[in-house]
Amino acid sequence: MEPEHPSVARVYDYFLGGAHNFRADREAAARVVETWPQIRDTTRVNRLFLGEAVGFLTGEVGLRQFLDIGSGMPTMGNVHEVAQRVAPEARVAYVDHDPVAVAHSQILLASNPNALAVDADLTRPEEILAHPEITGLLDLSQPVGLLLVAILHFFPDNTHPQRLVAALRDALPAGSYLVLTHATGDGQDRDVADAAEVYRRTTAPFQLRSREEVVRFFDGTDLIEPGVVLLPGWDDDRRRRATTTETRLPVYAGVGRIR
Ligand SMILES: C[S@@+](CC[C@H](N)C(=O)[O-])C[C@H]1O[C@@H](n2cnc3c(N)ncnc32)[C@H](O)[C@@H]1O
Repeated sequence: MEPEHPSVARVYDYFLGGAHNFRADREAAARVVETWPQIRDTTRVNRLFLGEAVGFLTGEVGLRQFLDIGSGMPTMGNVHEVAQRVAPEARVAYVDHDPVAVAHSQILLASNPNALAVDADLTRPEEILAHPEITGLLDLSQPVGLLLVAILHFFPDNTHPQRLVAALRDALPAGSYLVLTHATGDGQDRDVADAAEVYRRTTAPFQLRSREEVVRFFDGTDLIEPGVVLLPGWDDDRRRRATTTETRLPVYAGVGRIR
């Protein structure tokens, strides 16, 4: 039976051109695209940033374990693919609360001893940190790459996302890294706010945040250059500087080293 309601994970998969979505997802996605055609480019660039950040952390920083919360459907540039290309021993735990996304991830990872996917919820960070499969794969006393990519805008202020991020950050050792992207209305026309409203009505609660609010998610970390920037603000030659392109998408991205 097809699901009646659209899900964030499957709508995002549709924007990326994936096949793991149903009619309800495609209808919701079509309404967002109609309001804001740039959404497809935005999701693609967000995904490219995720890959760049993981490549940077595995290659230049030397991290060997990642905790990807709100990982979504397996699709182009999965974290374990990027990390294990650099270091085959790199370990990746994916977390999502969408059972379809988790099931697809588990199928993809069945033969990979260094990666797994679990069904857990960011609203209960302590359960993620104590999850036996996650603690069986990752050594949380050693530095971890914590990925919260394109998830926190689904957490309005009344769900206290700052506290959730702080709980995760405080549990990880110094030298861990936080990678985060977040939708914003800064410097945009009305379209982005309208698209956020369509998201809110059809799919899930959604909140755009200003740069200042996004920077606050990085409390307790030292930001890596170029800091919190609008995508595509990270160069694909990984020189960690803002690109000169004129087109800025309404998503802030940043990487911070946890103190
Ligand atoms: C827009 S997708 C982003 C996927 C991936 N991180 C990326 O950037 O390519 C957001 C994901 O967050 C997941 N998500 C939303 N709320 C969540 C929660 N409370 N706990 C765990 N996952 C959640 C959704 O199911 C979805 O798969």
